[in-house]
Amino acid sequence: MPAARFAPGAMRECEMAQTRVAAASVPNDLESFWLPFTPNRDFKRAPRLIVRAKDMHYYTAGGGPAVLDGTAGLWCTNAGHNRDPIVAAIQRQAGELDYSPAFQFAHPAAFELAGRLAALAPGDLNRVFFCNSGSEAVDTALKIALAYHYVRGEGTRTRLIGRERGYHGVGFGGISVGGIVNNRKFFGSLLTGVDHLPVTYSREHQAFTKGEPEWGAHLADELERLVALHDASSIAALIVEPMAGSTGVLPPPQGYLQRLRAICDRHGILLIFDEVITGFGRLGCAFAADRYGVMPDLIAFAKGVTSGAVPMGGVIASDRVYEAFMRGPEHVIELFHGYTYSAHPLACAAGLATLDLYRDEKLFARAKALEPRFADAAMTLKGLPNVLDIRTVGLAAGIDLASRPGAFGLRAYQAMERAFQDEALMIRIAGDTIALSPPLIVTETQIDQMFDQLVRVIKAVA
Ligand SMILES: Cc1ncc(COP(=O)(O)O)c(C=O)c1O
Repeated sequence: MPAARFAPGAMRECEMAQTRVAAASVPNDLESFWLPFTPNRDFKRAPRLIVRAKDMHYYTAGGGPAVLDGTAGLWCTNAGHNRDPIVAAIQRQAGELDYSPAFQFAHPAAFELAGRLAALAPGDLNRVFFCNSGSEAVDTALKIALAYHYVRGEGTRTRLIGRERGYHGVGFGGISVGGIVNNRKFFGSLLTGVDHLPVTYSREHQAFTKGEPEWGAHLADELERLVALHDASSIAALIVEPMAGSTGVLPPPQGYLQRLRAICDRHGILLIFDEVITGFGRLGCAFAADRYGVMPDLIAFAKGVTSGAVPMGGVIASDRVYEAFMRGPEHVIELFHGYTYSAHPLACAAGLATLDLYRDEKLFARAKALEPRFADAAMTLKGLPNVLDIRTVGLAAGIDLASRPGAFGLRAYQAMERAFQDEALMIRIAGDTIALSPPLIVTETQIDQMFDQLVRVIKAVA
């Protein structure tokens, strides 16, 4: 655009904008971005910058070696990174329909993806509500549960039950039912009318277990205690992660989820599985509900639905829950809830291509087949300095390290840095627990490689 067409003031604006663009492209201007769940000052002293990814690897700004993705991003790139069919689908969709309103209008891919997810989900979990993240999925599920009871004339059921050490994202609903102290303590009084089951993990009874521990099913009976305390007429829903991921990979004790289901049934309480991590193959099945043969009333999903390529989340509700809303005048909205970007066209396109990949490459079965190899490899870390426990399930492993005196979380933090800088391996940490959850396309050789690398890392931070 010729400069003469701008008024002097506008010209200055334009020049300022160009200066901002130039500044933005300076690689080490790290001041403006406030990183989430990251110690910002430390990060900015030695940034870990990723510029490209493909399949199992990231590539860094400095042009160093390819970094092996031991964590599927944040538990989301289950089909691997930048897979060609997903990239092509997003590109195609962007050129065709960038956006259409999600309220009162819709586009075909949303129906197609919902149908595919309903077919993938077990039993009568057939109704899909879309949002954009796991946190939104959780809050959506909690709101559906509350409204479900309301529309059926049981509006006294307002209480929500979560579990200690549960992670359900960062919305106010999610942190209220969640059970991780640092995610709660800074943020006021949270939702009222929430209670928590005890965590199912006990190192004393479960240390170094592959898969579901034998000890702990009885902890489900704590739900009966909460029912006795609050009365069933006040309880809307129980939400649990079938396998608690973010708090360090805590597989459910054998029989525990079945017991929760039975107690919920007995008292008319909806059971919500937060499958934001466990959905889409992490445990060797489409959903953890399949692995454990337990049917929840609502599944919250996100992450793997698009293999992390475009933000998307959602809730899969049972027919029974959905139909409870489908009463009253037909021109009236049944659920006063939704997001501008619910069922965004790019996310739907990415989701459809991702589901195709999962199917065509049989990635869930692949995760199941690799589980024993992965578990054996993880257990080779037993006996290394400071390794207190190792838990595995599906393609996920949690490795607890002894904390450094007076510095909780420091040892694992140092392990994460060493893994990235010295070994070109990306790992996740939660407190002093290391979590591994590679994309489901991981090879046996890469599994062995990542645990060999971890041996050196754990020794280095001894
Ligand atoms: C079980 C569970 N629920 C919810 C969330 C929140 O997802 P998001 O970060 O997409 O909001 C996560 C994220 O790790 C999760 O693990």
